[in-house]
Amino acid sequence: MKKLVGLFITLSALSGAVHAAEMPAKAQACIGCHGADGNSTSPIFPKLAGQHAAYLENALKAYRDGFRRNDMMNRFAKGLTDQDIKEIAQYFASQKAK
Ligand code: HEC
Repeated sequence: MKKLVGLFITLSALSGAVHAAEMPAKAQACIGCHGADGNSTSPIFPKLAGQHAAYLENALKAYRDGFRRNDMMNRFAKGLTDQDIKEIAQYFASQKAK
């Protein structure tokens, strides 16, 4: 059984890596302002495309946990888990900045 669980974890980790370029479901909420590929269309919304994943991750955690204050972002980061944030950050970091 333990072996089976280990295999499952390995497989899900692998499929996570393979699908890294696909948009995580929770990133849909960000499109309106930051663009589907992280290239926002308005200068009041920062571009996320090509930004370092670690930077995006820190920024999102800071918004979520209230260390960085912005009414819009505090609201959108609020429900995200650490895992959501990691996936979203990796997705936008892997997009090409335009
Ligand atoms: C209603 C518009 C809006 C939506 C939707 C939105 N954002 Fe933002 N986002 C902003 C604005 C405005 C800022 C700049 C806030 C500031 O000055 O701190 C920002 C900043 C950020 C930053 C910091 C960028 C930097 O360079 O410091 C990140 C990361 C980010 N957003 C990610 C997201 C993610 C991920 C989502 C979806 C879960 C999302 N945003 C949804 C408007 C939005």
